[in-house]
Amino acid sequence: MLSNCYFPQLAKYYKNVIATDTSPKQLEFAAKVPNVRYIHTSARMSMSEIESKIGAESSVDLVTSAQAMHWLDLPTFYPQVKWLLKKPNGVIAAWCYTMPQVNNSVDTIFEKFDIVTGPYWESPRKVVDEKYKTIDFPFEAVDGCDHNGPSEFKIEKVMDLDSYFTYLKSWSAYQTAKEKGVELLSEDVVDKFTSACNEDGKREKSDLSNLLEDWQSWKFVLIIK
Ligand SMILES: C[S@@+](CC[C@H](N)C(=O)[O-])C[C@H]1O[C@@H](n2cnc3c(N)ncnc32)[C@H](O)[C@@H]1O
Repeated sequence: MLSNCYFPQLAKYYKNVIATDTSPKQLEFAAKVPNVRYIHTSARMSMSEIESKIGAESSVDLVTSAQAMHWLDLPTFYPQVKWLLKKPNGVIAAWCYTMPQVNNSVDTIFEKFDIVTGPYWESPRKVVDEKYKTIDFPFEAVDGCDHNGPSEFKIEKVMDLDSYFTYLKSWSAYQTAKEKGVELLSEDVVDKFTSACNEDGKREKSDLSNLLEDWQSWKFVLIIK
């Protein structure tokens, strides 16, 4: 299994899980789950690296990619996935998450924040804005589905305002801006978010929990034969 932001929940359905990333820091911050091996890989893995670090041909039930497909060299990645997955029932599931929604007041500030952040994203991320609708995905649909995605769904995540800021700060665009001397979450912007959060009379700052929804876009498929 490749990188996956929800692997603690997903991992419990599998005996052995391998979580990979090219960033040692991301691996360091990953939730530690007993049946998960955390492996640092190169950005373009060779077949021998795949075999030694991940597994043999036709040995993997599920390959996932969470918010990472747009960074991969897909013409290299897809044949490797097909090689790794069990036949006929191996599955690749890839998803991305787009913009968080909290409430009208916070979302209005967020929209402005998003516009200012735009220039600091790298171009491959465009497919996330397009909810992976435009990404090449040459796999058959899983049994019972008439298409291989993407399908839109939402999840709710419990967050307080500080966690919300931590999430925004984890964006590579935020980091890029920072490296260029631009603080996207300036005191003024933080104040605007905070007021927007409190503006909603029924909800206090600490009540932001349960309100944040990450919209996610999925592609899922079955590799057969
Ligand atoms: C937006 S983050 C998502 C992290 C995690 N999968 C999650 O959902 O929380 C994208 C991740 O893709 C990783 N990444 C970038 N290029 C990669 C590659 N060629 N192979 C594997 N991971 C890569 C980055 O290091 C980063 O951790």
